[in-house]
Amino acid sequence: MRPAITLLAVSVPSPPFRVLFAHVDILRRSYELVRALQSCLGAEPPCLVQVIQGARPFARLIQSGLSGGLPVHDVRAKSYEGTESTGEVQITMMAGFGADAVKDREVVLIEDIVDTGRTIAALREHFLGLGARHVRVVSLLSKPSRRVVEVEVEHVGFEIPDEFVIGFGMDLNERYRDLPDIVVYEQEVERAFARSGAACR
Ligand code: IMP
Repeated sequence: MRPAITLLAVSVPSPPFRVLFAHVDILRRSYELVRALQSCLGAEPPCLVQVIQGARPFARLIQSGLSGGLPVHDVRAKSYEGTESTGEVQITMMAGFGADAVKDREVVLIEDIVDTGRTIAALREHFLGLGARHVRVVSLLSKPSRRVVEVEVEHVGFEIPDEFVIGFGMDLNERYRDLPDIVVYEQEVERAFARSGAACR
């Protein structure tokens, strides 16, 4: 008889960043957003678009909450280097996602966070340019005090102050995306943690 194989989940210790929203709060708010979104959508199924990579976990909640098993298309919009916005937005529609998917459709753009507003403004213009009938934005977070471009964000999970956040999909140079909570990034906390050697215990 073969021995049973047990997989152990190993959680890597991370610096004790300040928790802004615990995982359970994110889940609760996301389902409220699903209900609000659903009540605004027409009879035709919308075209769901997630802004990768950061919006993936949030988009999964929106997708699974909406009825109909809709596919989620991927778009990449790069505007950040480290903790700084570059001011320019590069848009890439990922493999299998073409203009035909948005033409005459209601597009629901799923974003992790709206900061200066440049990304959402550029994406909205992009999809309207491809013939979308309407573009609606649902974002888990918004930093209103950081706006440079006035944008409409129809559904916002939480408004937050001007702090750089990580976790639940959001990263700092590809790090910390897997944290289950949304936390505030502070370099000093990270350095103190590294100095303590806690990461290697
Ligand atoms: P915007 O174009 O300035 O609105 O920036 C939106 C994008 O910047 C988001 O999709 C994120 O990728 C990134 N971003 C802005 N603020 C944060 C943050 O606090 N943490 C992680 N990413 C952020």
